[in-house]
Order: sequence, then structure tokens, then C-alpha cells
Amino acid sequence: MKKLVVGNWKMHGSRASNAELIQGLLAADLAATAPRAEVAVCPPFVYLADVASALQGSAIALGSQDVSTQTQGAYTGEVSGVMLREIGARYAIVGHSERRSYHAESDQLVADKAKAALAHGLIPIVCVGETLAERESDQTETVVGRQLQAVIDTLGAEVLKVVVAYEPVWAIGTGKTASPEQAQAVHAFLRGVLKAAHADASSVPLLYGGSVKPDNAATLFAQADIDGGLIGGAALKAADFAAIARAA
Ligand code: PGA
Repeated sequence: MKKLVVGNWKMHGSRASNAELIQGLLAADLAATAPRAEVAVCPPFVYLADVASALQGSAIALGSQDVSTQTQGAYTGEVSGVMLREIGARYAIVGHSERRSYHAESDQLVADKAKAALAHGLIPIVCVGETLAERESDQTETVVGRQLQAVIDTLGAEVLKVVVAYEPVWAIGTGKTASPEQAQAVHAFLRGVLKAAHADASSVPLLYGGSVKPDNAATLFAQADIDGGLIGGAALKAADFAAIARAA
């Protein structure tokens, strides 16, 4: 199975810097130089259409950083899966820890967003992860298990179509990566939760996110249950993101 390497640009960029970043990624010729990686980028909503046309004809897929639970209507500020499909998105990140904490997104809302994404032909990348306090009080499995279970309960067998990203909150943007062993242990736990619900869940890609860099990507990706990465900071530099894709 190919590794999935997804860039989460968060609220970074401008038309000029995006154009430069895309140009760098296209020049890196990832289809040839990183043949074992499937690559996607998730720019802010406002730049999706621009980035979609810049990526046309390339092997790099497009994703959004969020999606509405609704399809159309009086939902000021929201963007629906139908709209995202129309401009060419393939993925939608849901439940990133920054949305869970700054926008009070509940486990159920995240599950409903995953359901809406699937209903509109998008592949949801469902993020789960514990805070440092939760890890230190031995709550990691309780927290990520609860977050994933909401998605399993809401989607039923459709959960086999999602991507799950384990992103320990304490490792995001901090330079503190989970060790490959720490990440693998949680991935194996998540795999077990998925398999308990659906015996054939070994096909669900499990990404690791949290300070993935060119120098730690290969050892993380070498773990048995790590099927790729969700990359924040390092996705903003074409050379770093390309190097991570090549590490797959
Ligand atoms: P980071 O972010 O790579 O900058 O730690 C990862 C993420 O939040 O998706």
C-alpha cells in the first residue's frame, strides 16, 4: 500500500507564496521521485480554486481543512462538501485538534462532518489525539478511543472509507515528535478499535501527525501501523514536504 502524505497548510499563505510553493512541489516531480507516496495538500478555503488549477494534471490531490455538516442553505461562513467536490477536492480534514479546541468541536460534530464528507464523495481525514495532560494521566487510549468510537458509531461500515490521523496535541507545532514507538503504540491501539468494529479495517490508512520533518519521517513511516503523515509546518516548504514524501 502506498503511504499517504498530506500537507495541512492551516491559515498560512498568500497567492504569491502558494504559487511559489506549488511551483516547488511540481518541480520536485513527486510522481517520479516519491512513487510510494500518494500526496495531497490542504490550503485555506479561499485558495482552493487557485491551487486546484495550479495542480491540474499533476499527481498531487487537493483537500480542505474542514467541511460543513450541511449541504446548502443559511449557514453563514460554512463550506459544504458539494462545493468542495465541485472545485476538485478529494479529501477533507475533520476534527483537527485546533478546531476541537478553538471552535469547541465535539466528537459527535466531528463524526457528523466525516459523514457529510463521505456523502459528498470526499474522503474525510479524521484527526484524533490527546493533550499532554491527558497523556501524563494515562488517558491517551481513553481519549483517542472515544474520539474514534464516535466516528465508528456514526458511520457504520462506511468507516472503512475514512482516513484516520493520530495527532498528539503536545506534538503539533512544538517540535516534539512522538517517538516512533509511542506513535506505533497508539496506531496499534486505533487499529484494534477499528478491527473490533469491522474485521476488515486493516485497510483504513492511519496517518501520524505532529512535528513530522524530513529527518524523522522515514522512521515514523517504517512502523507497522503508520500509513503516512499529516504534515503542518514542514508542508509549507516545498523541499521539506518533498523530502517527507520521498521518505515514504
Ligand atoms: P505540525 O502540524 O507538523 O506543524 O506539527 C501537524 C498538524 O497539525 O496537522
